[in-house]
Formats: sequence, C-alpha cells, structure tokens
Amino acid sequence: MSRSSIRLQKAPVYGYSQTPDAAVFAMEERCGAHHYDRLRIVVRSAQGSWITDVEGNMYLDCLAAYSAANPGHHHPKIVKAVVKALTGNYASVISNVVYTDPLAMFLSRTADFVPQLGPRFGSHGNKVLPKNGGVESVETAIKTARYYGWKKKGIPDGRQEIIVFDNNFHGRMISVVSFSTVPKYKEGFGPLTPGFVSVPFGELEAVRAAVGPNTCGILAEPMQGEGGMRIPPVGFLKGLRQIADDNDLLLLLDEIQVGLGRTGKNFCFQHEDIVPDGLVLGKALSGGLIPLSAFVTNARLMDMAFRVGSDGSTFGGYPLACVAGVAALDVLEQERLAESSAVQGEKLKRRILKIAARSKHIKEVRGKGLFIGIEVKEANAMVFCRKLLELGIIVNDSHGHTVRISPPLNITDAEIDFLLSGLETVFSAP
Ligand SMILES: Cc1ncc(COP(=O)(O)O)c(C=O)c1O
Repeated sequence: MSRSSIRLQKAPVYGYSQTPDAAVFAMEERCGAHHYDRLRIVVRSAQGSWITDVEGNMYLDCLAAYSAANPGHHHPKIVKAVVKALTGNYASVISNVVYTDPLAMFLSRTADFVPQLGPRFGSHGNKVLPKNGGVESVETAIKTARYYGWKKKGIPDGRQEIIVFDNNFHGRMISVVSFSTVPKYKEGFGPLTPGFVSVPFGELEAVRAAVGPNTCGILAEPMQGEGGMRIPPVGFLKGLRQIADDNDLLLLLDEIQVGLGRTGKNFCFQHEDIVPDGLVLGKALSGGLIPLSAFVTNARLMDMAFRVGSDGSTFGGYPLACVAGVAALDVLEQERLAESSAVQGEKLKRRILKIAARSKHIKEVRGKGLFIGIEVKEANAMVFCRKLLELGIIVNDSHGHTVRISPPLNITDAEIDFLLSGLETVFSAP
C-alpha cells in the first residue's frame, strides 16, 4: 500500500470547526501551555486505527494515545452507549450524595472482571474506587499502601515508604513526579513528597535490599512504557510477589498503559501467573472516550483504607464515564481484543525482527502483544518517527532511544502491512 493510496477523502474534513490549521497552531501558541512538542498535524476526525487531517490525508495511528484507544477510535458500540446516555438524560455529573445505576454497574463489572486481588487477604471479591485521569488512581493506590502500613503494620504515620523503580512513569501530579527519576519532570516543582525509594527496574536483589522497617508497599509498572518500552526479566513479577509476601507489603501494579489487553493478556501480571494486591487502570478503561481510571483491590483492603470522607472526586465515576467504561469492557471481552493483541503483535514483532536483521539503525526490538519498542543505535528515535509521519504513520519515541509502537488492538493484517512497509522504508535507508 503506498502513501497515495491512503489519501482517501476527496473533500475537506473539518470535524469540529472550519478553523484553518494555521489558526489552530497560532491559538495554541498564544493561549496554551507549551508542555508538549506536538507533531504539526491537526486531527479533524478519528475512526478505528486512522486519523484524518483537514485535507483528507489519513494516518495510521500506531500510538493509540499511549494505549487509551485500544479498541480503536470511536468504537461504534462505545459511541452508541455514550450517545444513548446523553440523549437519555442519564449522562451528566450527579452529586455524590445519591446513587446512580451506571456507577453501580461499572463498579460491579470492573470488580468481577479483575481476578481476585490480594488473595492472602481472603476471597472477599474486589472493590473499585473510580477517578478521572490515571494519576489520580495511582495516588489512591499510594494512599492505600500508606494507610495499610500505618494501620496494620504499625509504621508511624508520615514515615511510610514505598519502593518504586528507576525510569518509572505514573503521571504528573506532585506526589508522583516526586519519585520520578527523570529530572525535567520535577525540577523547580519542590517541595517534593517524601516516602519513596527508587531502585533499578528488573533487579530483585535491589528491591530486597531496599525493604526497611517503614516499607509498606511496592509500586511498579509490570512493563515500562514511558521508561523506554522496557520488559523486565522473566520472574521479576513473581519475585516482587515473593518479596511482598515475605515482608507483608502491598504489591501495587500500575497497568494504566499495559493493562486491558495491550500486551496480549487482559492484564500484564497474567504473563507471570501472579496477582497483585492492588491494580491501577486508566486510559483504555473507557475505550479512550471519557477520562476514567480506577484503583481496584481486595474488598477487605478497600474497606480498611477508605471510610466516608476519606476520599472523593466530583467527576470520578460519573454516569457518562461509567457507561463508557461498561461498554469498553464489553468490547474488550466480546471482541477478544487481548487475543487479537497477542496474535497481531506476534506477527508484527516477527516481521520487525526481520527488518532489524537487515537494518544498520536498530539496536533491539522488544515487546509483548501490541506493545513493541524498536530501540535505535543513535538514540535518535524521533528522527525515524518524523520520517514515518511523512509516510502516513503516527508513532513517537520513548525515552529518546526507542520508537514506540502501540496501535489499536484490532489492527488488521492490511494495516500491519502498511506499517511494515513504512518501517522497512525508514530503517533500510543507509
Ligand atoms: C503507566 C502510567 N501510569 C500513569 C499514567 C498517568 O495517566 P494520566 O496521564 O491519565 O494521568 C500514565 C500515562 O501515560 C502511564 O503510562
């Protein structure tokens, strides 16, 4: 498939407004915080794996909003549920002093979809605390571990410690950037939140050595996305589980980016046949349509950590988000997106490895399911991302050295061929 064959739309595609691209750039420049270095495309519409600009140029979206658009953009079943909620007058935010059936249904759907977490605390089922952006639910996880350390382990309040990992990425709010190991995420934003000890990702001995009398939990991404598409050595998650059990720590996994089918299983921890004590979900939880995240844990732990007044959120778990959440979980299961990710990811990785064998630019290809990183030798991944953009493919870099490939999980064979032809072109160049 050539680039020209994907210029499908003949008429202009405006989407939301007829504002010209130049005016969009100017408005952002004048009125927006400049906290992103954007590619110069104005997206006017997005459908499935494709996004379209005003001239009708279509780009294969192999980033999928860092896993938020796992079912593809505007999945018709999720859109239908959202539109029905809006026209049915049961979508708007409702005061948290009353119940809504979308929230109850989202909570029970999610609690039952996740395997029993923290089984050492008993088979009480899971409970779910919903929020909006992913970082909010990471903070819920941190609060749970700290509370556990204080209430159950007798650690003095204010002294609790959580073990985290170098090159972690858990979001952008103060507590979370406080334990980032990337200086630009936190420089000048002090005072930072104490209570975190960072150790090298994948190194179990370092974790064991970091456990002290005030340690209450371990917070990990089972695979690091922002940190360079890193997959830890086999046995790492099992080892973390063991260390948590040996020392009575809560093992908290942030699967905001790698959960919900991305790596070829519903949950990344299933690759090692363990279950954490707490799980953070976000991004694809609503199919990429409404901000929705959740902290899920054993019912016993949730009841221990939170009582009336100890947490809350105006929009967390509001009806529109919950309706999207239920529909997105239905799509994930009914359309077997995790299996699709495993099968398509395997095909894609196998063929990328062949390109890598012929290329002088590629250092390593790594990945599971449709979570694939191509590390380049010169640490100039963005150069290749920009070339791919010219060929109608959207990807970006992770940590400067790795091209991140994470398309919608239902990417078709023809779309994979299109992506591969682009990769072949940019990586076989001298
Ligand atoms: C692993 C992980 N945790 C947390 C976050 C933060 O989520 P949000 O940007 O929705 O706050 C992200 C976002 O990329 C992520 O990849």
